[in-house]
Amino acid sequence: MSAESQPQPAPKTGKPERRVGIADIARMYADGQRISMLTAYDYPTARIVDDAGIPMILVGDSVGMVMLGYEETVRVTMDEMLHHVKAVVRGTRRTLVVADMPFLSYGVTEQASLEHAGRFISEGGAHAVKVEGGVRSARTIETIARSGIPVMGHIGLTPQAVYGLGGHRVQGKTVESARKLIADAFAVQESGAFAVVLELAPAELAAAVTERLKIPTIGIGAGAGCSGQVQVITDLLGLTYGFIPRHAKRYEEIGLRMSEAVTAYATDVAAGTFPGPEHSSSMDPAVLAEVLGAGALDRAEMSDEPIPLDRDL
Ligand code: KIV
Repeated sequence: MSAESQPQPAPKTGKPERRVGIADIARMYADGQRISMLTAYDYPTARIVDDAGIPMILVGDSVGMVMLGYEETVRVTMDEMLHHVKAVVRGTRRTLVVADMPFLSYGVTEQASLEHAGRFISEGGAHAVKVEGGVRSARTIETIARSGIPVMGHIGLTPQAVYGLGGHRVQGKTVESARKLIADAFAVQESGAFAVVLELAPAELAAAVTERLKIPTIGIGAGAGCSGQVQVITDLLGLTYGFIPRHAKRYEEIGLRMSEAVTAYATDVAAGTFPGPEHSSSMDPAVLAEVLGAGALDRAEMSDEPIPLDRDL
């Protein structure tokens, strides 16, 4: 790939080149700046998101559905997550990378939760982890956060509990479930999380929770009243197969453009118009003539001799 065709960095925003930390996120929150977060799962995408100045990347377990073709996120393993986290970290210079802890990698024993969180930091190179669940995950969040690993909570619709929740539904619409969501939000905050994802909650409730918390809420399908927003990048770029959630705004049709590009490539190969001379290299015709037998020397030496193979040498 030529230098010209590499993704070009977005115009500089004047922000420092050093890595964003949770203190920077707290400062943005205190200053009332809306915080953007995007998922990324691979090196080139991470570079683009990092260059664009997005302060946080989530390597979500959504990787299972949007990149690996699983039906649900519960299929994703620690090893799969680590593989993607490492690639994303390699693609970033300043973005804070949050690794999503996969199903049952936490919450079984506190020891295992801590070990798995630790692997994301020491092996994966991530800067924080995310854990689903409010009240039910409070002890886990506390254990991990106390060890010095920054933790992001995740409440409302928690996809790893999708079977228990009866599907990908908006949470908090009834008195009981709204109270549960508020209790979950406080539990996450009191356990020491630095931020909390609020997924699929009514906008009014999400705004009310945001007003009451002292840590940023990062909404997805939870309205504009959250402290920040997170989106699954393939939804945003038009690269998601199957169901596209209502909350996702499509900024591009990359899937369509990729499809056009690969079709054009196949057409060029079939027509013989790719590769062109600009994609090929050439050699000295005298050398080629020598090798192929047009030269006098070649004719004398190679006449009836077979070309020796490795095994004959
Ligand atoms: O896995 C993921 O991408 C997530 C976001 C939807 C918040 O958890």
